Amino acid sequence: MSEPDILVHHEAGVTTITFNRVDKKNSFTEAMYGAMAEVLNAAAEEAGVRCVVFQGDVTVFSAGNDIGDFLRQGAQAQSSDLTGRAVWRFLNAIATFPKPLVAAVCGPAVGVGTTLLLHCDLVYAGDNAAFALPFVNLGLCPEAASSLLLPKMFGMHRAAEALMLGEPFMAEAALEVGLVNRVVPPTECNAVAQAQARKLAAKPLSALMETKRLMKGAQTQQVLERMQEEGQSFSRLMRSPAAKEAFAAFMEKRKPDFSGC
Ligand code: COA
Repeated sequence: MSEPDILVHHEAGVTTITFNRVDKKNSFTEAMYGAMAEVLNAAAEEAGVRCVVFQGDVTVFSAGNDIGDFLRQGAQAQSSDLTGRAVWRFLNAIATFPKPLVAAVCGPAVGVGTTLLLHCDLVYAGDNAAFALPFVNLGLCPEAASSLLLPKMFGMHRAAEALMLGEPFMAEAALEVGLVNRVVPPTECNAVAQAQARKLAAKPLSALMETKRLMKGAQTQQVLERMQEEGQSFSRLMRSPAAKEAFAAFMEKRKPDFSGC
């Protein structure tokens, strides 16, 4: 029997979610979003869970949404409602997760592989981490409230470089703008994140949760509203000629031709 695409491990108050679809660069399918949403929702309620860690492989964090899934969803009926989807449950779960979220990122972190980090409290990166937000290059728009959170974190011009040009940036640049806390050798990254998560797990949970709630303040409501707005645009754009061409080009391993879009 093959291993699941999401591995979940509970130890010492820390739940670790490991992306385990390395042959497809840990790109996320609807089933993976659904599984992660379930783990997060249970972890939010479970008193024994005090912190959650996301990690990938030492060679790749995540190549973002599965593009084959994008193609299938874009071909589906005219529903612009994302809210019934597993990806929506996942994004809501990370945006409202009340306990600390930690991430260890090595290799490519593309699309939601980067935007999910905007909802984490601590992020550690291997020096091979390469972040990219190629939404426009795929005929799409930002998601996970990244159109709100990225300009706040990066400043408007650097956010435009990341979100409009879709140019990748490396771990040191991510450190400079505050997307990551520390850059470490890739083979040490998971252990560093795990050690920080264990430190958090040893602290009083009620004080941690209250601190996180106060730090987020009114932003959580804004994030949920922006995610809703982005979701509607994203669903509409997913059915556009530009997106269909970009998805088909990726699957056929060729350059997209946007001359007619
Ligand atoms: N969806 C579906 N399959 C994906 C994928 C994705 N997002 N990213 C990679 N894969 C698959 C490839 O199709 C390939 O499958 P194959 O072996 O059956 O041909 C396999 O994973 C390896 O990918 P490859 O592109 O050969 O690896 P690489 O090391 O040269 O490049 C990336 C790695 C992550 C830079 C590159 O795969 C990439 O850019 N992926 C797309 C990222 C993207 O645009 N995501 C959507 C964001 S919204």
